[in-house]
Amino acid sequence: MKVTVVGAGAVGATCADNIARKELCQELVLLDIKEGLAEGKAQDMMQTAALLGFDTRITGSTNDYSKTAGSDVVVITSGIPRKPGMTREELIGTNAGIVKGVCENILKYSPDAIIIVISNPMDTMTYLALQSTGLPKNRIIGMGGTLDSSRFKYQLSQRLNCSPSDLNALVIGGHGDTTMIPLIRFATWNSVPVTDFLDADAQQQVVADTMVGGATLTKLIGTSAWYAPGAAGAALVEAIVRDEKKLFTCCVSLEGEYGQEDICLGVPVVIGRNGWEKIVDFQLNDQEKTLFNKSAEAVRNMNDVLKTL
Ligand code: 2OP
Repeated sequence: MKVTVVGAGAVGATCADNIARKELCQELVLLDIKEGLAEGKAQDMMQTAALLGFDTRITGSTNDYSKTAGSDVVVITSGIPRKPGMTREELIGTNAGIVKGVCENILKYSPDAIIIVISNPMDTMTYLALQSTGLPKNRIIGMGGTLDSSRFKYQLSQRLNCSPSDLNALVIGGHGDTTMIPLIRFATWNSVPVTDFLDADAQQQVVADTMVGGATLTKLIGTSAWYAPGAAGAALVEAIVRDEKKLFTCCVSLEGEYGQEDICLGVPVVIGRNGWEKIVDFQLNDQEKTLFNKSAEAVRNMNDVLKTL
């Protein structure tokens, strides 16, 4: 199995580090346009192999896509991250050109790859990847909801003083501060609805804190986060290469599911060796449906910006 991570910044390097530690592939390529960055980080990670006991071979490449040839899965993290006060949407002008170019280069050498998109604005970058490559829809997966659902579990665990891994919770919709929808009604603590333990105010606060999860970190750190985004990317790689059939929220192409089409948006999907294999159509209530449609409208407006670039 071979995996490539494009972009050796904080998110890409963290994703690669997680992939190597879990030995998800024999060969792992880290690629970046900045001279020496990917080679340096790949070497640094390889120097942890003897300490951590993994056998994945990590190599770095400065923009030489021939090194990525034959990749089964490619994670795209390229592009500029947001700074404090910026929205993910403000990155579109710069990142659209980068993501389109990366997709072209990747497919030249790995025509069968499954592509995971992390670059922001993630929903629009996923749509762009799908449109520009013309790949079968199951092979293009946007990571956003996987990260947002993990952040949702973190917020719930803080409130309930429990282990995040004992929680089941998902965030659907867009990967934007105002477009994501943490579905608190469906969240459980080892099968018991969390709404049994939290009053309405606490529920509202958890939802609000989840929605600004990324922005809160950008403010604290001065640039966007990387540990959870990198780990979320690696979790998807794991589900693909191990054919896990696990349920994640991912940004995928909708063709009538959840009442939407011609858009990529976060919904629960089964992830396995073929990419996203099935959309699970949850029965949303009226309020959730309204939020989902609003989210779709905002993402569609952002997608329209692609036509003007
Ligand atoms: C975040 O929410 C990078 O979009 C990513 O942290």
